[in-house]
Amino acid sequence: MSVLLTGGAGFIGSHTAVEMIKAGYDVIIADDLSNASPKVLDRLETITGVRPKFYRIDVADRAALEPVFRDNQIDGVIHFAGFKCVPESTKLPLKYYRNNLDTALTTLEVMEDYGCKAFVFSSSATVYGEKNVAPFTEDMPTGTATNPYGTTKLMIEQIVTDAAAANDKLSAVLLRYFNPIGAHPSGLIGEAPNGVPNNLMPYITQVAVGKREHLSVYGNDYPTPDGTGVRDYIHVVDLAIGHVKAMDYALKHTGSVAINLGTGKGSSVLEVVRAFEEASGVQIPLVITDRRPGDIATCYADASRAKALLGWEARYTLTEMCAHSWNWQNHNPKGYDD
Ligand code: UD1
Repeated sequence: MSVLLTGGAGFIGSHTAVEMIKAGYDVIIADDLSNASPKVLDRLETITGVRPKFYRIDVADRAALEPVFRDNQIDGVIHFAGFKCVPESTKLPLKYYRNNLDTALTTLEVMEDYGCKAFVFSSSATVYGEKNVAPFTEDMPTGTATNPYGTTKLMIEQIVTDAAAANDKLSAVLLRYFNPIGAHPSGLIGEAPNGVPNNLMPYITQVAVGKREHLSVYGNDYPTPDGTGVRDYIHVVDLAIGHVKAMDYALKHTGSVAINLGTGKGSSVLEVVRAFEEASGVQIPLVITDRRPGDIATCYADASRAKALLGWEARYTLTEMCAHSWNWQNHNPKGYDD
């Protein structure tokens, strides 16, 4: 079976490529490298012994995407391609709506033209919005996202759901990720954000490696056990295995279904910092600051649907996630730019 990973050179896409290859899929990657490094391909080859076929294209460009389908028998698509920086999406909403909607729409249209049936979408727990109370279950009404990036995830979920309802040949799984951290245990691939990281773990690892002075903890007056925000951190390799199971499922079913990929367990910012310090032996200086606009107090998954439908459960512990994030950053202090 051949699977196309749009945005497959990115953080989650590259880890998914490894697990898809390990599971026996032929992996094709399409990525414009606007937020990823070509070195990922060398690293994938080192880890798996297989170099995925690679197209450097913007998948929103129909003329560039069509030949990929013409030249390969593609059985399914995992769609990662899209912009993901929350603060940037607030400043440049049109850029986010244009890119994220175009990449999804063009991919779905070309799939339809070539009779490609299975679609797995990289969605986010951000679709649960501010009003639902954790643990989040997939049948909760999706909320209003707090930023344009999140709204693109909501819109694409709707587009995919409508497309699958209208076309009984399309089968779609909407994967709602909680907070992916960690890295491949080899330390060869990992998260390499451009500029100052927005997310907690890459910020912590950059403090640990001496690139940033201290971590700002965004508020300690939330209604949580220690006052800091609670999230469901999930190892990116567990997340990647969830994609393999989702593709297996999509190839065998019809219709569309949303599935949470989380551990079902929340950890606070301070718990993550403590786990990281224990795993790395490095102290993380921190300063408590104001809350970050748009943040909610508590977000964690009800992960039972993934277990029931996909037979999938997260396995890695928070300490292992921290150890692997540190192993990656420590061996690649400049990400892929060494
Ligand atoms: C964020 C996005 C979410 C997106 C996800 C992708 C926001 C508001 N939400 O989720 O839409 O799907 O990333 O990975 O940006 N924290 C600090 N200091 C930091 C960074 C984070 O204290 O320097 C805290 C946050 O307040 C939060 C927790 O750490 O409580 C996790 O933050 P982060 O890693 O940015 O993820 P989310 O906000 O959950």
